[in-house]
Amino acid sequence: MTYKIAITRQIPEIGIEYLASKGYDINIWPSTLPPGPEELVSFVEDADGIISMLSDQFSKDILKKLPKLKIISNFAVGHNNINLLTCTRNSVKVTNTPDVLTEATAELTLTLLLSVARKMITATKNVENGEWKSWNPTGFIGTGLKRKTLGIIGPGRIAFEFAKKCHLAFEMPIIYYGRRPKSSFEEHLNAKQMSLKQLLAESDIVSIHCPLTSETKNLIGATELNSMKDGSILINTARGEVINQNDLELSLKKTQLFGIGLDVTAPEPIRHDSPLLKYENIVITPHIGSANKEARNAMSLLCAENIDAYFQGTPLLTEVTIS
Ligand code: NAP
Ligand code: GLV
Ligand code: GLV
Repeated sequence: MTYKIAITRQIPEIGIEYLASKGYDINIWPSTLPPGPEELVSFVEDADGIISMLSDQFSKDILKKLPKLKIISNFAVGHNNINLLTCTRNSVKVTNTPDVLTEATAELTLTLLLSVARKMITATKNVENGEWKSWNPTGFIGTGLKRKTLGIIGPGRIAFEFAKKCHLAFEMPIIYYGRRPKSSFEEHLNAKQMSLKQLLAESDIVSIHCPLTSETKNLIGATELNSMKDGSILINTARGEVINQNDLELSLKKTQLFGIGLDVTAPEPIRHDSPLLKYENIVITPHIGSANKEARNAMSLLCAENIDAYFQGTPLLTEVTIS
């Protein structure tokens, strides 16, 4: 029996070749833009398995229209785009891509932090625009990172790699807010767990790494933003909805943050008229955390291996289950 696999965007060849070599019937979404909800249904309704993107929403309503579906292999570690409860009830398996993108995303988080701290984007724009007139003793004054306190929200895999870099390179003390104590953070980074309130009051840098869930949606709102230290930096490479973006937009004038780095926004792409785009101390990247060749190739292969494992009847490599 030939199984049909729908891949909702062009992904690195390695995963496609893997599935092709095993005889799957592969159908790749032809556009460089994602399918809309209707297009998604008609594109995948025949498929036995799907390699999906984080921009594809598999809601209860959409899943209802896909009775043939057996497995969704998400090309991302985050899986907030998939209704796991409905999948479980319908016996649809779900897999994701943990670990293989941890280093890439931690490196991007550090890139955002350094870019904000040294005003990198406005500085390069200044040069590109021909505005570099002379060396300026008071221009583009950044903020140092050495021994600044890093507050982690969501002490998981990516957070650990990012915090480790900050701890080793900049001697940062690490504090964290999570659902439970994390021995890896405490033993290797001498990190201390605390309440969110306490963390916001003590951190020079706050970096968000928790998944988007019903508990973490809008975790950072006006109260939290206003309780951050003056001159501190906020970084979000998790999901845009963890910050109440409306509150962020409204509180920008009131808060005295040094700057903000965002790889994720709500919605994505960010609205062109978002006030966030007008501030020089906000650096926004278009959700590129895992975008290096090592990570994206490994994600492609892992997605394909999970699909094949399912149809071979062998254990899934990285199954997502309700926790
Ligand atoms: P992970 O290892 O599962 O880490 C997530 C951490 O958040 C875990 O320690 C988890 O705690 C904690 N957490 C869960 N619910 C929480 C809550 N209510 N309050 C505080 N902490 C909570 O996942 P990861 O691989 O590091 O990935 C983290 C997230 O990054 C993904 O879910 C995804 O949304 C995002 N991401 C973004 C990019 C990008 O391109 N920007 C790339 C990759 C990932 P427990 O240990 O108790 O479960
Ligand atoms: C990217 O955001 C991911 O969750 O892998
Ligand atoms: C700057 O270039 C310096 O030499 O201080």
